[in-house]
Amino acid sequence: MTDFNQSLQDLRESYDQQPLRRADLAPDPLVQFRQWMQDAIDAKIYDPNACSLATVDQSGRPTARAVLLKGLEAGKFVFYSNYNSRKAAHLSANPHVSMHFPWFSMQRQVSILGEVTRVEESLAEEYFQSRPYLSRIGAWASEQSQPLDSRESLEKSFLEAREKFGEHPPKPPHWGGYYLHPRSIEFWQGGPNRLHDRFLYQLVEEQWKITRLNP
Ligand SMILES: Cc1cc2nc3c(=O)[nH]c(=O)nc-3n(C[C@H](O)[C@H](O)[C@H](O)COP(=O)(O)O)c2cc1C
Repeated sequence: MTDFNQSLQDLRESYDQQPLRRADLAPDPLVQFRQWMQDAIDAKIYDPNACSLATVDQSGRPTARAVLLKGLEAGKFVFYSNYNSRKAAHLSANPHVSMHFPWFSMQRQVSILGEVTRVEESLAEEYFQSRPYLSRIGAWASEQSQPLDSRESLEKSFLEAREKFGEHPPKPPHWGGYYLHPRSIEFWQGGPNRLHDRFLYQLVEEQWKITRLNP
């Protein structure tokens, strides 16, 4: 075995934090999620609202990338992106996604499955205008997921957008958000001896059903 593989195999953590018990769970997984997100924020972990979002292309091949969760609205998870991006092309053809929160330093993860729809223009507009000025300019400068010939071209587009829009850049028409409507949400808490706690919430006839899963 190579030294590198040996060093990977020697990496071992034992999970020793609070267990998760059935009696601790909120009946509504959105309430449970909100509590865990608050725990992650309070623990000051880096980017607690960063998650992986997996989509599939028209051949069923998956792609995962990070996005930031920017809200919970009436039971839906909200994130923002570029409607001309690769993920947007995937979502137009197939709205099914997997969203994964990797709160590893807390020995926790949450996995959400569901379908997305686009948020109302008014909500996207409101959030866009709340972003820092240079991020708003950046949204105009980047043709997300398209080939780019050089870093200089990107910086030139940025300066051009700043020149064109001045102090009050409008929301680009291709910039917006998605609601993820969850169908299942799994909470995972690491436990000793790899006996982790897993609880799966599934939406069955409009009711959340909770099942404990083997780790
Ligand atoms: C921590 C982190 C947060 C990110 N947040 C977002 C986001 O909220 N929206 C977004 O469009 N891209 C975000 N990105 C960039 C995406 O991961 C990705 O590179 C980009 O959206 C293009 O993906 P696509 O080509 O698959 O569409 C983030 C990247 C990182 C590392």
